[in-house]
Amino acid sequence: MKGIILAGGEGSRLYPITKCMSKQLLPIYDKPMIYYPLSVLMLSRINEVLIISDSKYIGFYKDLVGDGCHLGMKLEYKAQEQPRGLADAFILGEKFIGEDNVCLILGDNLFYGQNFISKLLKLSSMKKGAVIFGYYVSSPRDFGVVEFDQNNRVISLEEKPEYPKSNYVVPGLYFYDNSVIEKAKNLQPSPRGELEITDLNNAYLKENQLHIELLGRGFAWFDTGSYDGLMNASNFVQTMQKRTGLYISCPEEIAYRNGWIDRSKLAALGREYEKTDYGQYLLTVAGEKEERSRP
Ligand code: DAU
Repeated sequence: MKGIILAGGEGSRLYPITKCMSKQLLPIYDKPMIYYPLSVLMLSRINEVLIISDSKYIGFYKDLVGDGCHLGMKLEYKAQEQPRGLADAFILGEKFIGEDNVCLILGDNLFYGQNFISKLLKLSSMKKGAVIFGYYVSSPRDFGVVEFDQNNRVISLEEKPEYPKSNYVVPGLYFYDNSVIEKAKNLQPSPRGELEITDLNNAYLKENQLHIELLGRGFAWFDTGSYDGLMNASNFVQTMQKRTGLYISCPEEIAYRNGWIDRSKLAALGREYEKTDYGQYLLTVAGEKEERSRP
């Protein structure tokens, strides 16, 4: 399975912060935002990833993560000149996806919770259809919203409905079979002029090929595309990391634990940022600093 991170869009809900900067490069506590979705793909054992962003920012992403070989990955880039919608990712990414299945993650989404890795591993080996997630929120109006029947089967999906049919919304992480490319090409722009991911998911639903995984109330999901979203996610990461001493979404650590880079490479990466807590953490994971044992 291949992975796509959508890191374009105007970020206009964050103006003036994003007037001259790509939203997905802003910090969430101690890391650039894009590290969080990148980590989710890595935890799914996906090591070929396409990063889509506005052409004016692609150079910044290349400076940050390059071709990915320091993480044992292969990263590619594609420009999206206009924010034509989330489903545009599969049209822009057609050549990159090739014959494979694909996982799309939005560059401003943060996921964290127990048993997430085993869910991801199961989904990244899926063969047919589409899998989306469902997450209970207090204000569903800003998202794609799921409607269930009495047997908890999905019967409809609506994008930002005025009158949501449930409190379950669809976070920005989607697994698709290869037919997603053709389905995306057949979509018509919505009234707001975008190729909607919700329309794409509805195309799978119509074929009875849409599966939903509900994320329980112990799970944390943040859409960081607003002032409060940025702040809440940063506070969450800071709190969890300080409390446990374990980092959330540290790509170098995941690459090491996946066996994609060895201990000496990890230590070398840690030494690059030696003056920071981040660098010291990498050195600890690499065993060059003392770590208390944990199960
Ligand atoms: O966060 C989950 C929600 O994401 C879903 O529940 C909705 O169904 C889905 O439509 C989407 O809603 P948003 O309003 O949050 O989408 P937004 O326009 O903010 O775009 C999400 C990310 O994708 C953001 O990081 C910018 C990027 N993007 C967006 C568009 C429209 C692109 O890279 N290219 C685009 O064309």
